[in-house]
Amino acid sequence: MSVDAKDMGQDLEKVLVTEEEIKARLAELGARIDADYADRDLLIVGVLKGAVMVMADLARALHTPVSMDWMAVSSYGAGTTSSGVVRILKDLETDIKDRDVLIVEDVIDSGLTLSWLIGNLKSRGPRSVEVCTMVRKPLAFDVDLDVKYVGFDLPNEFIIGYGLDYAEKYRNLPFIGTLAPHVYEH
Ligand code: IMP
Ligand code: MG
Repeated sequence: MSVDAKDMGQDLEKVLVTEEEIKARLAELGARIDADYADRDLLIVGVLKGAVMVMADLARALHTPVSMDWMAVSSYGAGTTSSGVVRILKDLETDIKDRDVLIVEDVIDSGLTLSWLIGNLKSRGPRSVEVCTMVRKPLAFDVDLDVKYVGFDLPNEFIIGYGLDYAEKYRNLPFIGTLAPHVYEH
């Protein structure tokens, strides 16, 4: 048994995507990725910390044997917005030259972090770089990003759960939801 909506008490406003919906969507994305990378040596790259849940579940939804690596980046920005200025906190351990790379993200909001990351990885000479994100928010369309695999397109609200945090909390919720305003309005 995992954390559920009841454990959230008054902190949860609403559930946007249930655990079952996430699982079903990952099975669909996994089947597409399996087909697209048949006979390839795929490296999936999770962006810490938010992508931990989707990496773990997506990897197990695949039949393709994959390698897994991780990056941690920090984008300087005020509070909950991102500035596009990115610093690498933890780099890949894998040489991605001539590799097929799939970046796995929790959420694309402004898309600034991701567009920087794609540029950074492409400069290392990979064979291909694609993106899989659990959630895409509408602002992401303002940036010219080609995101091949999208779990859910959600409205422009601050969301938590399934890896996504507010002040480092709520990452371990198995669903995606919104927070009650009293949590962040102090
Ligand atoms: P960007 O705005 O697309 O550059 O997103 C940068 C990062 O902000 C994401 O990788 C998340 O870590 C975080 N973020 C964006 N939107 C949300 C949200 O709704 N909830 C929690 N974290 C978010
Ligand atoms: Mg992230």
